[in-house]
Order: sequence, then structure tokens, then C-alpha cells
Amino acid sequence: MVAEDKLAIDGGPPVISDPIPFGVSGPSVVDEEEVEAVSEVLRSQELFRYDAQSQCHQFEKEAAELLGIGYTLIVTSGTAALVCAMKGVGLGPGDEAIVSGYTYIATPAAIIATGAVPVIAEIDDSLGLDPYDVEKKITSHTKAIVVTHMRGVPARLDQILDIAKRHGLKVVEDCCQIVGGQHKGKAVGSKSDAAAWSLNYFKTISTGEGGMAYTNDRDVYERILYCSDPGLPMWNTTNIDMEKLRSKSENMDMEKRDAPQGQFYDVEYQLESFPGEGYRASELIGAVGRVQLGKLPKVLEHQRKLKRAFMSELDEARSYKHQYVDDSEGDTGVSAGVIVNDEDLAKGFAHALKAEGVEVAAIFNEGIPDRHIYSAWESILNKRSHHPSGYPWKDPSYKGDVEYSKDMCPNTLNILGRTLLFNFHMNMTEEQAKLMARALNKVDASLGI
Ligand SMILES: Cc1ncc(COP(=O)(O)O)c(C=O)c1O
Repeated sequence: MVAEDKLAIDGGPPVISDPIPFGVSGPSVVDEEEVEAVSEVLRSQELFRYDAQSQCHQFEKEAAELLGIGYTLIVTSGTAALVCAMKGVGLGPGDEAIVSGYTYIATPAAIIATGAVPVIAEIDDSLGLDPYDVEKKITSHTKAIVVTHMRGVPARLDQILDIAKRHGLKVVEDCCQIVGGQHKGKAVGSKSDAAAWSLNYFKTISTGEGGMAYTNDRDVYERILYCSDPGLPMWNTTNIDMEKLRSKSENMDMEKRDAPQGQFYDVEYQLESFPGEGYRASELIGAVGRVQLGKLPKVLEHQRKLKRAFMSELDEARSYKHQYVDDSEGDTGVSAGVIVNDEDLAKGFAHALKAEGVEVAAIFNEGIPDRHIYSAWESILNKRSHHPSGYPWKDPSYKGDVEYSKDMCPNTLNILGRTLLFNFHMNMTEEQAKLMARALNKVDASLGI
């Protein structure tokens, strides 16, 4: 054995001697452009979205064009966007919605916020919903399937859409971790009933906190709008006699009153309103969002380049297989999942990789509880409610009998217990991505069986 082949845990030289910087893509590309955009909004003193020049409205139009989607609404968070999307498709008390056991806790929490009950399903080697388990979990109460595309990799969408069609169910896509991703030539989220982006600190593009709900369905969009602001419709511009109004109140700022509502400008609402929550985004979020949106192609290009460099540098695997990727073209390139043959070996790999200079994400890493795994959703597993009535599980309209336990999805725990995630971001170079692959080659050659 040559000296370089000796693992760093055994005293050999590490593959990576200069630590790879930590990074998240969205915040890493913030520069003077965002500073100027925010400053301009502040200077204008127009911080509220219902303004004729609305930054939020312009963000929505630009995002809709980018996605090739009918309707978009920027809101305060990805969670808010999910609640709007789910209420938009009509999810509510008495309903069940099937959700992946591997998604951020915000996804099932959003289901609960609509009054519906989450039913947790298994993942497969795509690290997304397992279509076979989804079908098994359908009951007479099921209203929707919520698909999450984790870490930039599209889930098995076609199979899920097919199941939903056969059973007459709605599909909501949680695209919080796959902003800019595609599935077979179309933007993720555009083939289902509604979808949500997160623009929080850790995402592909970022406004610090923020999100976007989107849909191709006009009625769903109206419901999304109502859900985001209990004051809507603020103004039905086609219904009002502007002249009469002007003469009635001379001091009224007509320009503001005539402002767009979401993407709607000068249109009549078709559905009756219902009182929603307050998820309006500020103009500061809108302004930063527009600049970040403009940077999305550059971010995606770089992340995808890094993932390709990593993948092409890998030797043939001895003791692991790659995560199944349903559409590698649509993958945003933010991560590569490696599923090691057994759990102890995966722990050994992670330990050895760390010594080689590569930090991988794995569920067995110590630290704060990983709320991306259902077994760490204690509040949900214990059916804890904000109210003593036990809503939504004990809501009189709920006739189902969903039960949860920490080990209810053994395949999910088994797969995630063996999965190592390699992460790519804007602060990383192609050479560093290749070094990560060489570290994996070295560890697999030495520890792999
Ligand atoms: C898969 C997923 N869903 C939902 C959310 C919630 O988004 P936010 O934090 O913007 O509310 C996140 C955020 O981390 C997420 O990763």
C-alpha cells in the first residue's frame, strides 16, 4: 500500500488538507445588488406590497415566467406557502394527507395547520416518497398526497401523479429544497395542483425568510390569495366606479388603492372570500427576491457543475450505491446521496471521510435533533395540539384512526441510517468537489467489502 492510500484515521495523509468552506448558495451570492435593491425600497418608504410599483408583484411575474406557471404568490415563509397551497387545493378538517417520512417537520405541520391529519409514508432509494407505500396508506379519508423533493433531487413524481389520478387525490409539491429544479422538462411544482418554495437562509436562493406558493389553477390561486391575507379582496378594480370614488374621497391615494393583489391586476375575483392568515411578504423580501431570482441560473449552473465533477471522479462503488435520481437533468445539484450497504459501515465511512476532510450529512450525526426525519417529529408523533380539544386528530369531523410511532417507517430509518449526503454550494470549487470524490474512493477502497 502506498502512503496516500493509508486512511487519515490510521495516520495517513488526508485527501483534503485545506478545509472546504461551509456555504449555502443563496446567501453566498448576496452582494451590492441586493444592498441597492433594499436601499431603494427603504428610500422610497414604500414597504407595503399593495403599491402600484410593487416589488412583490414584479417578483411574482418574473418567477411565473421563469417557471412557466400561471400564478405565483410570494409570502413570508416556505411553511406559509405550504399552508396556502394546501388550503388552496381544499385540504381541511376530516381529511388525511400523505406525507413523506423524510421532509422538514414544516410539511406535516402545514397539513395540521389546515385542520387535516398527516399520514406518514415510507421513502425509497430516491429518498423521496415510496409510491408503493403511498398507495398502501390511502384510506377513504385521504384528500391529498404531499411530495417533497429533498436536497435538490426530484422525487418519483410520475408514479405519484398516476396514483393521485387513479384515486382522485390532490397533489401538492413541497419544492422548498428544489428551487429551480425540473422534472422531465417542466418546473417542479408545475404538474401538480399547487406547490411551495422556501426562500429561507439555507435555500438555493434566499431572502433570509420567505416563500412562494404557486399553481396553474385560477381557483386554487384565489384561495391561496385569500389564505395569505384576511383583508382580500382588497379592491375589485373591475367592480368599482373609480370616478364616483374619486369624488367621494379626494384625499385617497388612488394609485395605492389600485395596486395589484398577488399577480392579479384589474381582475374580478371569481370565488367568495374566506378569512385567511397574515402571510403577506414585505417589499424588502420582494426586492431581494427579484435580485436573487436573477442569480438563480448562475447558482444552478455552478451547483450542477460541482455535482457532475464529483460524480465523474468516482470509481466503481464497492460498498455503496447511488441514490436513485428520477431526472438528473432537473436535479439542482445541491447534493449527492450515497447509500452504504450497512449502517455500521456507513458510520465508519462518515468517520473516515471526516478525517479525510469531508463532512457528510447523515442522520446519525450528533447535534440538534434532525427534524427532517419523522422519528424526530415528537410533537406530531405524540399528537400534541395547540388546543386541549386535541385538534386535528380529535376533531369530530375526522373519522380516521391514524397512529404514529418512532419505528413506524422501518424502510425510511434503514435507508437514511445508511445514507451519506455530499453537499455542493457556491463557495466550493470544482477541484474541491473532485477531492471529495477522491476521498470517497479512498474510503470505499479501504473499508468497503
Ligand atoms: C422540505 C421543506 N419544507 C418546508 C420548509 C419550510 O420552509 P420555511 O423554513 O421557509 O418555512 C423547509 C425549510 O427548511 C423545507 O426544507
